[in-house]
Amino acid sequence: MSITGIKGMNDILPGEVETWQFLEEQARRIFSLYGFSEIRVPVVEKTELFQRSIGETTDIVEKEMYTFRDKSDNSLTLRPEGTAPVMRAFIQNKLHTRDPIAKLYYMGPMFRYERPQKGRYRQFHQIGAEVIGVEDPKIDAQVLTMLAHYFEAVGITDVELQINSLGCPECRPGYRQALTAFLEDRLEALCEDCRRRYRTNPLRVVDCKVPGCKEATVGAPSVLDHLCGDCTEHFTRVQEHLREVGTAFSINARMVRGLDYYTKTTFEMVTGSLGSQNAVAAGGRYDGLIKDLGGPPLPGIGFAMGVERLALMKGEARIEAARPDLFLAALGEEASRYAFALMSRLQRRGLRTEMDYEGKSLKAQLRRADKLMAKRVLILGEDEMASRQGQLRTMETSTQESVPLDGIEEFLVVAAPPAP
Ligand code: HAM
Repeated sequence: MSITGIKGMNDILPGEVETWQFLEEQARRIFSLYGFSEIRVPVVEKTELFQRSIGETTDIVEKEMYTFRDKSDNSLTLRPEGTAPVMRAFIQNKLHTRDPIAKLYYMGPMFRYERPQKGRYRQFHQIGAEVIGVEDPKIDAQVLTMLAHYFEAVGITDVELQINSLGCPECRPGYRQALTAFLEDRLEALCEDCRRRYRTNPLRVVDCKVPGCKEATVGAPSVLDHLCGDCTEHFTRVQEHLREVGTAFSINARMVRGLDYYTKTTFEMVTGSLGSQNAVAAGGRYDGLIKDLGGPPLPGIGFAMGVERLALMKGEARIEAARPDLFLAALGEEASRYAFALMSRLQRRGLRTEMDYEGKSLKAQLRRADKLMAKRVLILGEDEMASRQGQLRTMETSTQESVPLDGIEEFLVVAAPPAP
């Protein structure tokens, strides 16, 4: 039996990959407008990094990590997300000594042992961005505006930006207490996971998608009513700045993120078009994380987008593969060798060029040129070689002209370059 790939880990095939490249290129383009530089970190880290940052009682750490021991008996984990590794790299490389403000972005595979379904995979990809070192709410608004700008640039419109504040170590314990008291009488109605979360991570209960839990938490205390003065002021100013720059948002006080490092502003870009996996991007502020990981006490804020979900949303409007500028249809040994050398020269000069390698009939070669959607075909048969005149066919208009082979390279690249 042939060997298959791993459940929930997908191949991204030609035809789909063009959409991915488009999404990545646009991220590089847009993020650089906002002053971000790329950082690349390993896909494997010490398990402890994720336990300490994401939190011991989160679903990710409790149930979803690909953790294993290497041959030296170190516990390692395939990264389930990018923020913790980027903060680890920031601290380890003392990046704050180069610049007190860091704006970093990353893209690549993440791994979570979740139940695979549409939009949810075990190896998935994120494009993420993080700003370290700025506490002012202007940066929250700037990060959110960049996210909205990205969605506009890639042409995904069916999304809504929802924001919330989760408070800080000052005010969150008070909210947690109020929520625990509220949930106490409703434990029976909660799902099994939420009964456990009630003890370990009660905030997650208000975010649960199970209908029984949603019903049981109607009227639950709102986190926004329990924010301290500082957090209230921060959240108000984030909203003011968003309005100043015209970035649309709504407030969702029930949004609680699945990672423990968040403080103050949190957000999600949600869509109605992906069923239950409705978050296409998500993030927030994490003012205590860098210090908790042994670094300087610097604030941070960022987000990550799920590339599979972006690609699903891009759907029909996907990006075409690049078409060959020229197909060389050669007949006979001499023409074939000539075409082979010409193809190599043209490729070096930036022309996307293809040929038939196997001496097929002219008809078969033209069929292949059609299939590849080549813009032009240069026909080189025995007569053409003898007369030193090739036949250049423009596929779109089905017109053909005779062109001298002497100087053909200049002609194809400079004098009559391919249509864009
Ligand atoms: P997250 O909400 O766990 O946050 O993931 C961010 C995004 O990754 C989700 O909104 C979703 O689009 C995508 N995603 C997550 N899990 C899967 C999956 N199993 N299959 C497909 N897509 C998935 C974080 O990871 C934080 N590090 C975001 C962040 C950056 N916060 C601050 N900075």
